[in-house]
Amino acid sequence: MNKIISLDEISGALVCEAGCILETLDNYVKEQNLIMPLDLGAKGSCHIGGNVSTNAGGLRLLRYGNLHGSLMGVEAVKADGTVVDCIRTLKKDNTGYHLKHLFIGSEGTLGIVTKVAVHCPVLPKAVTLGFFGVKDFDSVLKLYKSAKASLGEILSAFEMADNDSISSTVQNLKLPNPIADFPFYVLVETHGSDETHDAEKLSRFLEREMSSGLIIDGTVTSEPAKMQDTDKDVEGHVITWFTAAVDMDGNKQGHPCWDTIWNLRESIAGAGLLDGYVYKYDVSIPAARYYDLVPVLRQRMAGKAVKVYGYGHVGDGNIHINVTVPEYSKEATDMLEPFIFEEVSKLKGSISAEHGVGFRKPHFIHYSKDEGAISLMRELKQLMDPNGILNPYKVLPDP
Ligand code: LAC
Ligand code: ZN
Repeated sequence: MNKIISLDEISGALVCEAGCILETLDNYVKEQNLIMPLDLGAKGSCHIGGNVSTNAGGLRLLRYGNLHGSLMGVEAVKADGTVVDCIRTLKKDNTGYHLKHLFIGSEGTLGIVTKVAVHCPVLPKAVTLGFFGVKDFDSVLKLYKSAKASLGEILSAFEMADNDSISSTVQNLKLPNPIADFPFYVLVETHGSDETHDAEKLSRFLEREMSSGLIIDGTVTSEPAKMQDTDKDVEGHVITWFTAAVDMDGNKQGHPCWDTIWNLRESIAGAGLLDGYVYKYDVSIPAARYYDLVPVLRQRMAGKAVKVYGYGHVGDGNIHINVTVPEYSKEATDMLEPFIFEEVSKLKGSISAEHGVGFRKPHFIHYSKDEGAISLMRELKQLMDPNGILNPYKVLPDP
């Protein structure tokens, strides 16, 4: 099921089968000056049907929203074999219940997605990227507020990583860090239509926040198409050097570019595996308390963990907390769970922001959903899959 069925270049509506690979779709729609509304580290192998079934989030959700917004229609197969054809390429269609939402993020437990209609936004003409060193988490939050105010509609990503996140990629994967060592790092990306205007906006933001002290040091660069030279790091990853970029001291030479920065960010998820075993938590927490649990877990796991670090999508309130240990142990697991879920629940957060429930978390779902919600979910499951044959043991706990 990997056929592209249609692309309406005027509306941006793409209809395709569920087995299409995200990157293949992105390359296809690029020909018509469009992009896919989601971008993930796994774009080269993940399928659009899986993206929809898991409501995959990713790096630019801040700008393009999640799939509940950009999915125009879906075709899914019910447990009894009935094909539910909700493929429409309309923005407005208030004819009864919005059934497509039942298949977005329900992890295949209510039906199997076979076809999708996705709204593709316009390919941005200008893309700029900034990577900044920051002294503490409070500054990260202040910087986010300021980025929203000064970059407005062109802001496409606002990501953060603490020192241990970046040092784990630098040490474990030998990736280069384009700036010096800082307690926190912020990555700001813009998608806009005017290169000069956007670069000016980002540079003004940078100048202002360097004088305010929120940014200690950093680098601003442009999209890969503008790169002028390429090089390879020790692992053979391509490092691009954008010689026209200007660093904080006005240096114009040998400036690390796009791929170096995004590689560093996208590699954090895998880097911890080299420490031994990684406990990964993917939680949403209201902005003001976003980073609270990292120091708490560091203290709790002192002497047991190799590293405890936090990174993620500040703009979406979604932090990934990784705890690396030399090897899996029940003792470490019991120290972490359900403790972390209890803490997230106290903070009115979500125990799974973008990675779903799967089979690891059904018995923790009550930390994020009340009894009424869980029982309605059970009723829906009973109605749509009475014999429990669709992705069994996932999402809902045993009664
Ligand atoms: C990330 C994956 C882990 O944000 O969601 O890197
Ligand atoms: Zn993520």
